[in-house]
Amino acid sequence: MSFKYKNSNVQNIIEALQRANNPKIANIKYNLLASEQKIFRQQFENKKILVAGSGLGQDSLKLARFNEHVTGIEKFKELVEYAQKFQRQLGVANVSFLQQDFMSTSFTDLSFDISVLNMGTICNFSMNDQKKIFTEMMRISKTFYFSFYLAGHYHTEQRLQMYQQEWDHILTVKEFCISNDLGFGSTGISPEDLKQMSYDLGYSICFLPLNEFSMMGCLTS
Ligand SMILES: C[S@@+](CC[C@H](N)C(=O)[O-])C[C@H]1O[C@@H](n2cnc3c(N)ncnc32)[C@H](O)[C@@H]1O
Repeated sequence: MSFKYKNSNVQNIIEALQRANNPKIANIKYNLLASEQKIFRQQFENKKILVAGSGLGQDSLKLARFNEHVTGIEKFKELVEYAQKFQRQLGVANVSFLQQDFMSTSFTDLSFDISVLNMGTICNFSMNDQKKIFTEMMRISKTFYFSFYLAGHYHTEQRLQMYQQEWDHILTVKEFCISNDLGFGSTGISPEDLKQMSYDLGYSICFLPLNEFSMMGCLTS
């Protein structure tokens, strides 16, 4: 199942991202985001980074502290403007926020050392779209890091607890898919399926542990 990021939902996306970055409301998601940053810090530095789906700009601005330059791309103009305002407030120079679709960007081949898709965003997309994202990220960067939620009943139960902290909206669980009444949600993925998908596309993949219900995938050519 895939979830649509629609223009009509921009305000909901802004509110959800604000809540996700607030440890007083959503400490499970907040700790997960901290674990993502810890992995990034251990894996690379002084690189040219592309952040796919930069949202409010939080992860791009953190990555900018230890990298040469970060380009954050985002589907919605309102979010790009929000992130740019945040950047100005912090006085960070080595970040650019642009409005672009991460399935089909305007960048030339291998423009970046690293691309990043965080917060389990890959789990919002159908397998077909996941393949498109892999292909585009591997076209424009040498290495692609993406966090994902694990399939399985125990992992889904843990992810449900995370969403219960973040969302006021009614949640529905169907096997490994959790959605709310606004149409947002995610579907857990098994590492075996990702391995098969990477193999089919001609990439190598490895996995790094994040927390009890999610992992970081790392794709290379
Ligand atoms: C879960 S959020 C991650 C936000 C951000 N990286 C952070 O750490 O705060 C996913 C973001 O991807 C954006 N997005 C979804 N589909 C997109 C697409 N096709 N192209 C660009 N951005 C997209 C959404 O609008 C949302 O801001």
